[in-house]
Order: sequence, then structure tokens, then C-alpha cells
Amino acid sequence: MLASRQIFNACQRRAFSASARQASKVTVLGCAGGIGQPLSLLMKLNPRVTQLALYDIKGGPGVAADLSHINTKSVVTGHQPDANGLKEALTNAEIVLIPAGVPRKPGMTRDDLFNTNASIVRDLAKACANTAPNANILVISNPVNSTVPICAEIFKSKGVYNPKRLFGVTTLDVVRASRFISQHKGTDPADENITVIGGHSGATIVPLLSQSGHSLSGKDLDDFIYRVQFGGDEVVKAKDGAGSATLSMAMAGARFAESLLKAAQGQKGVIEPTFVDSPLYKDQGIDFFSSKVELGPSGVKKIHEVGKITPEEQKLLDVALGDLKKNIAKGVEFVKQNP
Ligand code: NAI
Repeated sequence: MLASRQIFNACQRRAFSASARQASKVTVLGCAGGIGQPLSLLMKLNPRVTQLALYDIKGGPGVAADLSHINTKSVVTGHQPDANGLKEALTNAEIVLIPAGVPRKPGMTRDDLFNTNASIVRDLAKACANTAPNANILVISNPVNSTVPICAEIFKSKGVYNPKRLFGVTTLDVVRASRFISQHKGTDPADENITVIGGHSGATIVPLLSQSGHSLSGKDLDDFIYRVQFGGDEVVKAKDGAGSATLSMAMAGARFAESLLKAAQGQKGVIEPTFVDSPLYKDQGIDFFSSKVELGPSGVKKIHEVGKITPEEQKLLDVALGDLKKNIAKGVEFVKQNP
């Protein structure tokens, strides 16, 4: 009796530790940059990650050597653009984070980055489609409203597009909105969860304060909306030519990756706003949209409707949809012209 109970317990332990130890390889493309380094650090500290592959056109092995001394269990590998560097970084990846590209300088909009970043993202998307077609692809490189459609077009052209696995990371807008409202209301920002919909640049960022249980009006509301939409400019200006948000972005990217890992490992009810291939406004010719998305083991599990919003929020949304349509078309057209 005792022996059979011991065997039963051992089996249970093994089953538990096997799921807890599920192998999760995370790859960061652009790991040596302002976002890439702290993001890689945060992924190294995440106990759900078993392997961390770090790639950059410059400096990947250095960042990897540094992080590999941290006493968490994941194995860190560094990769550079030699014969098989990118391929090895991507092989068996469950999550690929892409912060590769140039950031803004004062006076620039995210759209001004298009010319440089579009081809960087296109080329990295090709490598992902070839080597890691089933990975979750998390696009951070701006302009996200266009770089996500670029990835989709590349995956489609290679016959491996899975709309449930492609995400534009808009988490920083949610993080900022939660922080800014907490400053205004004197609450704990950790308790705030403001839904932000639309896209990730200027007027396409639409915070839905009415759904958060808070109300602001007049100038307070206008200031809050402006700050969420253009909060990135505060950082660009303060850094005075040295780039845009990197540390807060790394935190936001790591939070989104953690949400995906949690969902992949069986946690239910994991919801994050994110810019995905969405049915919500397809009838208006808008194929990608950020709304609350429930994540699951296969990536996107459920795309939530926008829900009840105020007439003022509807006005913001109408402006956002107009801009989004153009931003998305620009990405699609880029791949057509530069396959
Ligand atoms: P950075 O210039 O500090 O770093 C970019 C890194 O990408 C560099 O290490 C560079 O060597 C690398 N890189 C360039 N081409 C590459 C390629 N083909 N393959 C691999 N690596 C490559 O820039 P930072 O500040 O890290 O920003 C990166 C991107 O993230 C920018 O496009 C920026 O606009 C965007 N961003 C996005 C945010 C979001 O909320 N989604 C927020 C803040 C920035």
C-alpha cells in the first residue's frame, strides 16, 4: 500500500514538474539596443524562460555573455549575422521579440521611422517565417501600425501566416495610461488597468477611461488623453537626441511576453490589449486593430469587442480608424513594392 502510494506521489510530482519546467525558448532580435538590453535582462530574470537567444547585427554575443552570468536557470546564447547566426537564434523559438530598428529623435513621428525600419522588419520577418513559422512574433519596432502588417504580408507570401501568433506590442500605452491616471487620482498604479485601443502612434492611441471606473472631464480629460497619446514624446524630448523610451518599453515588452508564457503554460483569463489581425473593423478595410485580447496556448484566444464607449471616445476612435487604415496600407504596399 505504502509502495503504491509512493509511486502515485512520484508520478504526480513528475507530472507537475514536467509542466512547470515546460521548455520555453525566447529570442530577442535587436538585443543590443536601448530596449533590447533591458528587455533581455528582464527575460533572463523570468523563471518561465528556459532558453534565451540574443541576436543583433552588432553586440549580441557580448550582451549574452554578460547576462549568462546571472544565476537564473535559463541558458543564454548570443548570435550575430554570420552564416547561421539568425537561424540558430530562431530555431525552436516559442516567442520572438523584435525591438530591432532605429528610434525617434526630437521632432520625429513614429511614421518618420518607416523608411529604415520597414526593411529591417521585413528581413527579420522572412527569417522568422523560414525558421520559426509557429512562434509568437512580438513586434516592437516602430511604426507598429505598419510593421505588423509588413510581417503579416511576409508570412503570407511564404504560406505560413497564422494571425493568432502575430502581435504588435502596445502594452506601453496601457502602462502609461495606468501610471498617468494613478498620478491624477492618487491611486496605486498597480491597481489600475486602463484599456487602450486602436494602434500605437499619436491619434491612433485611444484610451478608454470610461471603462476603468474613473471619470475626468474638460481640460483634465483632454490632458490625460493627450499625455497617453503623446507620452512617448516626453521621453524623446528629455533624452534630447539619444533615443526614445527604452526602459519603460522593456518593462512593457517583458510584461506582454510573460502574459503569453503564462497563457501557453495553461493560465486562463490572461488579457492584454495588443495590435492584432482583428475582425472588429475589417468591414471598413482595417485588418489590424488593438483591443483587449485573451491569450491562450495557441496565441490569440479571443478578441474582445470595444464595448460601450462615450461619444467623445467614439470621436477619438473615428480619427484613429482613419489613420490606421493609411498606416496599414502603407505597410502592405511596402511589401508589394519591396518583396
Ligand atoms: P536602438 O537603436 O537603441 O536599438 C536598436 C537595435 O537594433 C540596435 O542594437 C541595432 O544594432 C539593432 N538592429 C538594427 N538592425 C537590425 C537587424 N537587421 N537585425 C537585428 N538587429 C538590428 O533603438 P531602441 O531604442 O532599442 O528602439 C528600437 C525600436 O523600438 C525603434 O523602432 C523604436 O521606435 C521602437 N519602440 C517601440 C515602442 C513600442 O511601444 N512598441 C516604444 C519605444 C520604442
